[in-house]
Amino acid sequence: MSSKTILFIANWKMNGSPSNFVEVAKVADFLDKKLKEYKKYIVFCPPISLLGYFSKKNRSKKVAFGAQDISNTKIDFGAETGSLSASLVKLSGAQYLIVGHSERRVTGDNFLVIKEKLLSASKSKLKIIFCIGETLEEKKKNKSLTILKKQILNSLPKKINLNNVTFAYEPIWSIGTGLVPTNQYLEKIFSFLETLLKSQFKIKSPKIIYGGSVNSANIKNLRNIGACSGYLIGGASLKAKNFIEIIKNYYN
Ligand code: PGA
Repeated sequence: MSSKTILFIANWKMNGSPSNFVEVAKVADFLDKKLKEYKKYIVFCPPISLLGYFSKKNRSKKVAFGAQDISNTKIDFGAETGSLSASLVKLSGAQYLIVGHSERRVTGDNFLVIKEKLLSASKSKLKIIFCIGETLEEKKKNKSLTILKKQILNSLPKKINLNNVTFAYEPIWSIGTGLVPTNQYLEKIFSFLETLLKSQFKIKSPKIIYGGSVNSANIKNLRNIGACSGYLIGGASLKAKNFIEIIKNYYN
């Protein structure tokens, strides 16, 4: 088993009901019984409507929870109907927060909105999963690196605790499509991101993870990306069986 700390994050998107806690419990049981030496968290990000319930029901120390988004509000509590602050998601049991997912960017999260969300998440001491990624068109035009740089430089505040930020490289053309970049392409992207984060943000060891159509078959290949510290997993994280298979195949 690799000595590196690997994060497996389940992004349930707009799926799940209270009865689906059974999937979380099965993963927790697997970790507690079969991966005893594995000390790190598996993070479940269910819809916000399930977060409090799931985190209260959970008994495993190896499972943590995260939220998929917050509002770009400047206050923690107050007269903002429908808003969700970082403090509120923290009170519901979230230790992690996904910010800047492409499915939020298409609904209006621009660079500034993302920056505001990163600032309030950091103020509430949430661990941030900051998503970045290029479209297929941008990739075809050889613009991937420029786009990623822009997404980081325009939204990532320098004054927050950058050690609490994990960067999730999620090529938009990979999300939910079954298409996964080649390892050669990923190596190039990860090395570019590492250099950028070290030089411009003085992050000693940037944590960068991959997301986009990860499954139990392609994980055997994806695990060979040297600089990759984990995976953000959508569709294949909904059923414990598939999620456990990914974790197993990573370590075996
Ligand atoms: P996917 O989603 O694994 O279903 O491609 C990943 C994500 O959007 O985070």
